[in-house]
Amino acid sequence: MSRTTRDILVTSALPYANGPIHLGHMLEYIQTDIWVRYQKVRGENCTYVCADDAHGAAIMLKAEQMGLTPEQQIANVQKEHERDFAGFHVEFDNFHSTHSDENRDLSTLIYERNRDKGYVVNREITQLFDPEKEMFLADRFVKGTCPKCDAEDQYGDNCEVCSATYAATELKNPHSTVSGATPIEKPTTQLFFDLPQFQSMLEEWTRSGTLQEGIANKLSEWLEAGLQQWDISREAPYFGFEIPDFPGKYFYVWLDAPIGYMASFKNLCDRREDLDFDHYWKKDSSTELYHFIGKDIINFHGLFWPAMLTGADFRTPTGIYAHGFVTVNGQKMSKSRGTFIKAETYLRHLNPEYLRYYYGVKLGNRIDDIDLNLEDFAQRVNSDLVNKLVNIASRCAGFIKKKFDNTLSSTVSAPDLLKEFQDAGDDIASFYENREFGQALRLIMSLADKANQYIDEEKPWVYIKDQEKQEQVKDTCSMGINLFRILMIYMKPILPIMASDAEAFLNISPLTWDDKDQPLLDHTVNKFKPLMQRVEMDKVNAMVEESKAEAAAAAKPVLDPNSPLAQEPIADEISFDDFVKIDLRIVKIIKAEHVKGANKLLQLTLDLGGEERNVFAGIKSAYKPEDLEGKLTVMVANLAPRKMKFGMSEGMVLAAGPGGDDLYVLSPDSGAVPGMRVK
Ligand code: 2FM
Ligand code: ZN
Repeated sequence: MSRTTRDILVTSALPYANGPIHLGHMLEYIQTDIWVRYQKVRGENCTYVCADDAHGAAIMLKAEQMGLTPEQQIANVQKEHERDFAGFHVEFDNFHSTHSDENRDLSTLIYERNRDKGYVVNREITQLFDPEKEMFLADRFVKGTCPKCDAEDQYGDNCEVCSATYAATELKNPHSTVSGATPIEKPTTQLFFDLPQFQSMLEEWTRSGTLQEGIANKLSEWLEAGLQQWDISREAPYFGFEIPDFPGKYFYVWLDAPIGYMASFKNLCDRREDLDFDHYWKKDSSTELYHFIGKDIINFHGLFWPAMLTGADFRTPTGIYAHGFVTVNGQKMSKSRGTFIKAETYLRHLNPEYLRYYYGVKLGNRIDDIDLNLEDFAQRVNSDLVNKLVNIASRCAGFIKKKFDNTLSSTVSAPDLLKEFQDAGDDIASFYENREFGQALRLIMSLADKANQYIDEEKPWVYIKDQEKQEQVKDTCSMGINLFRILMIYMKPILPIMASDAEAFLNISPLTWDDKDQPLLDHTVNKFKPLMQRVEMDKVNAMVEESKAEAAAAAKPVLDPNSPLAQEPIADEISFDDFVKIDLRIVKIIKAEHVKGANKLLQLTLDLGGEERNVFAGIKSAYKPEDLEGKLTVMVANLAPRKMKFGMSEGMVLAAGPGGDDLYVLSPDSGAVPGMRVK
């Protein structure tokens, strides 16, 4: 019976172009990539697109802080993001940017269609304005005291202590986090998307049955509370798309971000003959559209996005798949504990497939948070992948090579076991389809146990010594390799690199799901190479230590490379006891003279408050002797006398600067007198 191929379009949330990808982000990209690879290995026509989320005030300010234009900033970050995703074998069909022509065109189209149908309204509102930076302040750029519970240092949209939500204008003692200034209130006209008009459409969509229970419940709560109009415009300065009929105002980043999914797909369609944009996005399309997201952005994807699409006569998503957050060792990721681990840092120490597997084990289709326990991670990968899965192939491949010229038997020695492995494919497929990766992996690992048990019982290492049992050993090992091959088909969405190395060993073309039904018989395999190294805790610990060091370095301010501090970094820390050993005193320069034959030195006679000192100072190119005489300065009074070519130097005067004529002798404020100790 012929089966129709499904046309599926899949997205992951678009990462902001203002920072690096970390292991918290990676959960979602790995989850999506596994699901997409599963669809592809099943032969479905599945396309996976993503992009950088490049707009908004945060990115504009980040660029300013880095001394870059926003365009330079987003181009740099996009390169890093693409590098990190590729490092974890996340294989997008296209990775684009929301700052693109396709996105500008589609955002304009969606806005205009909604506006023309009366779904966009103008409203005058009061907003907080930073008088120093001359900009309106987004909620996240204002902090102050919570109007409900008086907790200090809360953002302009909600209180992290009492969870109250409020307008930024309600904050007590607000200050701008951009400049520190006290914001003023200013009236301004903004555009609002009239979400309440979509109440019944959204109620119906929420109850359509395709949404996760957790998402449907959350959406119902919002729907019952009553929907609010949504502010979709922002004041200049803003990095984004200027609204065509509203000069000086820009689309809010969250308006054009999800349209970025369409834009990335459009950009791909323009390069691919076999993909038709309208086929996927037209109203009532027969194709499937899934968005993988974090639980924090359900409202954007479950309310605004389907409403905006409907208002613009496009299709709505088939499913929105939300996941929870990542904790590390049971706690929120923390920079000081070294558990805020960047993708790039992980990849310097560990194999990406370890994490793909571990996240796979932990993932189900619910919105629960997921804990990356680093000890458990190492132990799990070693016991499941190295000791169970790879072991099946490695314990059989040696005999097949040494004794049987790398050729497998022409018969199946344990047909029932083979059938059990093949039949399990349906359950494993349905677990994958429902994003129950943990359940799929438990079933796969129980099969791996059975394969190892089979080899244990058949004892090829014993019978290989018996000339009459050679064929039996060949059959056992061939069976083991065939079982391993089926397991690699099932693991392929999770471990694409190990699967491709296994294909090279098995000497076969890329495995597809249906290949499980035809075992390899009378087939020559290639030399077996180890498919995975054990996770070493030393490497895990080194990754944590490096993350700690990176966080500490990043906490230091970025210096202008020409600044004195950048040119001459602060010396190693000393103790207070070390410091008090240095006796600094106020002195008066009573005489300053050139030194015959010396290029850099002046000879100074210093009055130390009753005692005279002779000091040679390397300040000749910066000062004329007569300008120094009569000046008060500071000297190190207890420095051991140094014998110089021109005489004994009995201390040192303090001057700042890199040297040459760029030197400044320190002088105390008026009131100081020679002999006073500097403390
Ligand atoms: O929350 C975030 O990180 C956003 N950049 C996600 C955007 S997803 C989509 F709607 F574009
Ligand atoms: Zn509060």
